[in-house]
Amino acid sequence: MAFEFTKENLQKFEETLKRYPQKRAALLPALWLVQEQQGWVSKESMEYLAKLLDLTPAFVYETATFYTMYNLKPIGRHHIQVCNSVCCSLRGSQETVATLKKKLEIEVGESTSDGRFHLSTVECLGSCGTAPMMQINDDYYEDLNEEKIDKILEKLK
Ligand code: FES
Repeated sequence: MAFEFTKENLQKFEETLKRYPQKRAALLPALWLVQEQQGWVSKESMEYLAKLLDLTPAFVYETATFYTMYNLKPIGRHHIQVCNSVCCSLRGSQETVATLKKKLEIEVGESTSDGRFHLSTVECLGSCGTAPMMQINDDYYEDLNEEKIDKILEKLK
């Protein structure tokens, strides 16, 4: 399916370009903008960015696949990323993951069949003092336990 930025996102993209000495340097924020717009980074969107930034599609693809924060396939609306690094692990992130897997009936790396949630584990999110923690889309949820997880999931439509 063809991709192009919305009028508003094209404006954001052009504003972003002004911050960099070379067009290619804007690739990471441009990929992020694609992901904000459609929830993931498709092959067609990479080809679109390659044209906008005077890059080869292969260069855009190599960059997008190098970083774990870009979703290369459609995922659930609420992307749950549970920190799995040392502090969170010592404070029970394995239980957090197990609780989420049980409640959502999915494995890590999967989305729920209703398209509501996607579950990932990630490295340190910089909130070690409030471990165990997770990020859902742009928000942090900290000092997690099963009761808190229940309330968080209930609120997310
Ligand atoms: S170890 Fe989990 S936020 Fe740093």
